[in-house]
Amino acid sequence: MSTIPRIGDPAPDFTANTTQGPLTFSEWQNGKWVVFFSHPADFTPVCTTELAEFSRRAPDFEARNTKLIGLSIDSIHSHLAWLESIESKMGIEVPFPMIADIDTKVAQAFGMIHPGESSTVTVRAVFVIDPSRTVRALIYYPLSNGRNIDEVLRLIDSLQASAANGIATPANWRPGDKVIVPPTTTVAARKSRLADEKLEHVAPYMALKSI
Ligand code: BEZ
Repeated sequence: MSTIPRIGDPAPDFTANTTQGPLTFSEWQNGKWVVFFSHPADFTPVCTTELAEFSRRAPDFEARNTKLIGLSIDSIHSHLAWLESIESKMGIEVPFPMIADIDTKVAQAFGMIHPGESSTVTVRAVFVIDPSRTVRALIYYPLSNGRNIDEVLRLIDSLQASAANGIATPANWRPGDKVIVPPTTTVAARKSRLADEKLEHVAPYMALKSI
């Protein structure tokens, strides 16, 4: 029974064979944010659309100081043939490494196999990992439904804004929108915050500001 690394846990370190050669995750990460995603299987339609979209949006991840890496329980030969097929059929080059996790070692370490859904392939997991290798967010989708890459990018924007400014973000937040100031915990702090005219006081428990 594999466990799922949770928010705030260190992401497990590992070595793996990838389409860009063998790597050790912590070295490859090189102090950047990482989106580590799994998909069920090579040469399947939903996975192909996801891989194409992650690849198309790779410059947007790079602009966020974020590296992409994918995984499935397929051989390196299958990965290479699939990537060739995506390039020849769709004109899209996959610019990030794909892990060939044929012995399921990495998938188990990240809890990417959900036996109720499938005992032989990984579900659609996304781990957002910060530069200190701490898990900051995770998303799990079933086999049948492709992920929204815009949402993964929006999540990174939101997590990076929180990490840099110690704030929270409201539903549907986008860069440029106001953010939520952490709640006060003393009478004095509450009074001084209520007097702060730079804040938008929505309710006693909710104040917004621009960053
Ligand atoms: C797909 O990517 O299309 C897919 C993969 C595994 C199960 C169902 C769909």
